[in-house]
Amino acid sequence: MVTIALEGLGAHYGKRTILSDISTPALPAGSLTAIIGPNAAGKSTLFKRIAGLISGPGTVHLSDDATGRDGVRYMPQDTGANAVLSVYESVLLAAKQGSGWRVEDSELAEIDTLLRALQIEGLAFRNLGELSGGQRQLVSIAQALVRKPKVLLMDEPTSALDLYRQIEVLAFMQRRARAEGMAVLIALHDLNHALRYCDQTIVIAQGTMVASGPTGEVISPALLRTVYHVEARVETCSQGRPFLIVDGTTAA
Ligand SMILES: Nc1ncnc2c1ncn2[C@@H]1O[C@H](COP(=O)(O)OP(=O)(O)O)[C@@H](O)[C@H]1O
Ligand SMILES: [Mg+2]
Repeated sequence: MVTIALEGLGAHYGKRTILSDISTPALPAGSLTAIIGPNAAGKSTLFKRIAGLISGPGTVHLSDDATGRDGVRYMPQDTGANAVLSVYESVLLAAKQGSGWRVEDSELAEIDTLLRALQIEGLAFRNLGELSGGQRQLVSIAQALVRKPKVLLMDEPTSALDLYRQIEVLAFMQRRARAEGMAVLIALHDLNHALRYCDQTIVIAQGTMVASGPTGEVISPALLRTVYHVEARVETCSQGRPFLIVDGTTAA
């Protein structure tokens, strides 16, 4: 089942072109796709363009089941917190966004399930303004998932999380994508996380796509040299998985 594919996608802010000519094959339902690339490459802009928040040339192809109101959900990088709401209220608000205010028992049950899965049920009645950055990031993930989108765009969702929670969240997203038939696109900086959890990887540099394909094929020493200007090795760890080691930056 195809969920999302991009064709000749571009974006501009005013007259400045930020992103051009991004085309991908179909990113299948149930898979995780890493969006990687240096700072200011255009990763967040790509997500905003896919989510329809900014305009530009090209087409976002969505399969029929992903075109509805709950089709595509975007979890921004900076999640401005409305400090007067509790965690529970904020997730409930996300669940009801754009629909009526009638709350079904099943929706409350789903919120409980999500807060437990993300191990933040103990924070349910704390105000968002009193949370740490990492705790707020977990709440944003609950808000993004509560409507069960078909395509989920997560902009650096693990940037404020400790080691344990980074792994928990990525493993959870992988299970959830598989179980719900959701296509998840995740902007990431930790390439070992991409290697471990993401089926495909798309590399963005200077506003355009420089590589895409199965993660293990895309992340190579040659690519890392060109795109990130680092000398790196992809070795096989003692458990047989690929592991990236960065030896240093390339000489300028
Ligand atoms: N609202 C905006 N107006 C003008 N330029 C922007 C805006 N947002 C981002 N940019 C520029 O677009 C480029 C890509 O930014 P972004 O997509 O946020 O990069 P990334 O997420 O890969 O770090 C950067 O040069 C950034 O300065
Ligand atoms: Mg960004």
